[in-house]
Amino acid sequence: MSRALATTPLPDRLPLPPQLDPQRLPAHVALIMDGNGRWARQRGLPRVMGHRAGVETLKRTLRLCSDWGIEALTCYAFSTENWSRPGEEVAFLMTLFERVLARELEGLMKEQVRIRFLGDLEQLPEGLQNLIADATARTSANGGIHFNVCTNYGGRRELVQAARHLAERAAAGQLDPAAIDEALFAAELQTAGEGDPDLLIRTSGERRLSNFLLWQLAYAELHITDVLWPDFDEAALLAALLDYQGRQRRFGGVEAAR
Ligand code: FPP
Repeated sequence: MSRALATTPLPDRLPLPPQLDPQRLPAHVALIMDGNGRWARQRGLPRVMGHRAGVETLKRTLRLCSDWGIEALTCYAFSTENWSRPGEEVAFLMTLFERVLARELEGLMKEQVRIRFLGDLEQLPEGLQNLIADATARTSANGGIHFNVCTNYGGRRELVQAARHLAERAAAGQLDPAAIDEALFAAELQTAGEGDPDLLIRTSGERRLSNFLLWQLAYAELHITDVLWPDFDEAALLAALLDYQGRQRRFGGVEAAR
């Protein structure tokens, strides 16, 4: 991926905080946006108000990542397990996704964001599927940050689908099983063509992956913060990036190998 953002002349770009080394930013940040419900409960509000506030936080975070020169942001908006939430909450989230997409598309174009949705999209409401298809097509040639929204996404399901597809190709005689290596496998994943995340940020203090990007996060640095997602602000993002820049990445070796 090229550092297109560093050269694209966008208006009013927010400057990189001086504490950060621009040469050692993560190219790809993954986000588990947890704590919306708790944020709302703390304020005596219905849970869904937390999701509404969470959208504003996501917009702000995307803008900051884009302006600071991060090349890709992948967020976990709705997991394959989230269908088990109360029906009204699921319906609210689907309507929220539709409204936000419809409302923000022009802004994404202006900011040169390339948006994609990862997950089993055919199980989503038809109106949302149409908006997703439109936003994906319209932003596909944009040269700015890659913004991936995992929606009805599950890491294990993604791995099983990849394995099944490779097995089908092998059974049809189109693929020698001995030719299956990590690169070929990764090319079957929904993230094909995107570098693996360098940094995973999870808010609200839970210390688990929750079936998110199980293959892709193999070597990611983990930053877990107690901040609830709607409260995740510029200072919290800066803290995550400073934490990342303080790590020595070894990829299983003895010194930084790449
Ligand atoms: C987790 O908080 C959050 C979610 C399941 C939904 C996140 C979705 C958004 C922020 C909107 C994204 C919108 C677009 C268009 C990409 P939680 O409900 O699990 O909070 P809790 O752990 O405190 O209960």
